[in-house]
Amino acid sequence: MSKTKTFHDVVRERYSARTYRADPVPGDVIHAVLDDAQRSPSNANIQPWDVHIVSGAARDRVSEALLAAEAEGRMTPDYPFGYDELYGAYSDRQVRQADQYYKSIGVAREATDDRRMALLRNLEFFGAPHACFLFLPPFYDSVRIASDVGMYGQTFLLSLTAHGLQGCPQTLLGFFAGTIREVLGVDPKLKMLFGISFGYPDLESQGASYRIDRAPIEENVTLHS
Ligand SMILES: Cc1cc2nc3c(=O)[nH]c(=O)nc-3n(C[C@H](O)[C@H](O)[C@H](O)COP(=O)(O)O)c2cc1C
Repeated sequence: MSKTKTFHDVVRERYSARTYRADPVPGDVIHAVLDDAQRSPSNANIQPWDVHIVSGAARDRVSEALLAAEAEGRMTPDYPFGYDELYGAYSDRQVRQADQYYKSIGVAREATDDRRMALLRNLEFFGAPHACFLFLPPFYDSVRIASDVGMYGQTFLLSLTAHGLQGCPQTLLGFFAGTIREVLGVDPKLKMLFGISFGYPDLESQGASYRIDRAPIEENVTLHS
């Protein structure tokens, strides 16, 4: 963590950035972030994260393959995901998040083509110069292993912020797990949980100031005594 940022600052400054500058992050800074993320806890310290980072030509290759797969309707997720199972407060929060985000980039609720274009920005890593893909070995039902990889993802994201960077975790990238495995030559046994686009946030672009709040603690936490 930089000497000027406290943990309190880092946690509150982190956000899922969807606008980036094109300039790449120096290799030693990426290494420092990876060094932090490697400290993440895991069940029995098995450290099941298998991490692939793309930059430069490799980044462009993956993005092109993702856009082509999407255009051809070739979705190859390793894990199911959709909003149809959400209910109550979970569903409300999801709708609110989507509404607020689309509003911040000037896209109306009924503008389905514009919403689709905005969604496709996921596959261009929102213009970020780097993307990271988190894979895991297929033990048990993957729940505990996925929680380890989630821990890794959070340490990675907080470290980015501590280094003046931002990232956006993206389940959407996981919808194309097969394509990413193929382009990067990843072992087919490894399953992809999500990706993280990252780089220096572009604070000038439309939507750059979008931030979303959180429910009050009482909505999620029950204190027993
Ligand atoms: C595992 C995970 C997957 C996510 N997938 C996506 C995604 O595919 N696309 C996207 O734009 N945001 C994605 N997000 C970002 C969430 O929308 C974001 O974390 C949430 O709205 C809270 O906002 P904040 O991260 O800016 O605080 C994802 C977040 C997490 C933790």
